[in-house]
Amino acid sequence: MPLREQINIEKLPSHVAIIMDGNGRWARQRGLDRVFGHQQGVVALREIIETAAEIGIKYLTLYAFSTENWGRPDEEVNALMSIMIQSLNKETDTLLKNNIRLNTIGDVERLAEDVRARLFETLRVTSGCTGLTLVVALSYSSRWEILEAARKLAKEVSNGTLSPENINDEKFEKYLTTYGIPDPELMIRTSGELRISNFLLWQLAYAELYFTEILWPDFGRDEFYKAIIDYQKRERRFGKTSEQILDKC
Ligand code: IPE
Ligand code: IPE
Ligand code: MG
Repeated sequence: MPLREQINIEKLPSHVAIIMDGNGRWARQRGLDRVFGHQQGVVALREIIETAAEIGIKYLTLYAFSTENWGRPDEEVNALMSIMIQSLNKETDTLLKNNIRLNTIGDVERLAEDVRARLFETLRVTSGCTGLTLVVALSYSSRWEILEAARKLAKEVSNGTLSPENINDEKFEKYLTTYGIPDPELMIRTSGELRISNFLLWQLAYAELYFTEILWPDFGRDEFYKAIIDYQKRERRFGKTSEQILDKC
């Protein structure tokens, strides 16, 4: 049976998060500069966004650039930023046509003015779209986000509008950049690395993790289907017993 048909549409994850890793190695294996890998990564990105929208995923969060990635050589950071501008220039119409709303999480203040302006324009024009919400994590790290939330809560406590005993999951989440978006049920990382690399540490608490050796530029439609099929075979227990979960059905 084709992979697409093996997916149970009733049991789709509503939110999939992806660490798109392995662009540099993909290029190096071909004797090319790492930047070619990033360019090819955008091709894969397009296919995955299209597939997610087609099958009816509601939220897709993509780790595009981490806080730690600012430490890469200037030429690579600059190339990544130009690729970002070019892609937004080229694909904003496609987003609109497919009813995809762009959202972003991360410390956008650190982005250069031209990148920020281009990004904000796409956020603005797609803000009325009601299909897939595409969340791009840019200049994002989970520790940065959690510290920001802690600072905001501390301010509320110090000005007397919140008492420490009343800090709970809900209050805390209100200050996370993902506020209003359900936690990812499935997190995919490509390129064989078995780590989270400072991505959505709070939100991934109960996500199913899927790791594949495939490098990001080679991660196509079928690879995405495989991850979803694998996810659908798992029993999500949330701390309960298997019997409790089965009883509910
Ligand atoms: C992921 O690919 C893209 C970004 C981090 C921006 P890498 O650039 O990390 O590729 P590898 O891991 O070096 O192969
Ligand atoms: C994680 O990949 C960040 C992105 C994919 C944007 P990295 O390649 O930066 O992560 P590490 O350094 O291998 O952990
Ligand atoms: Mg990497």
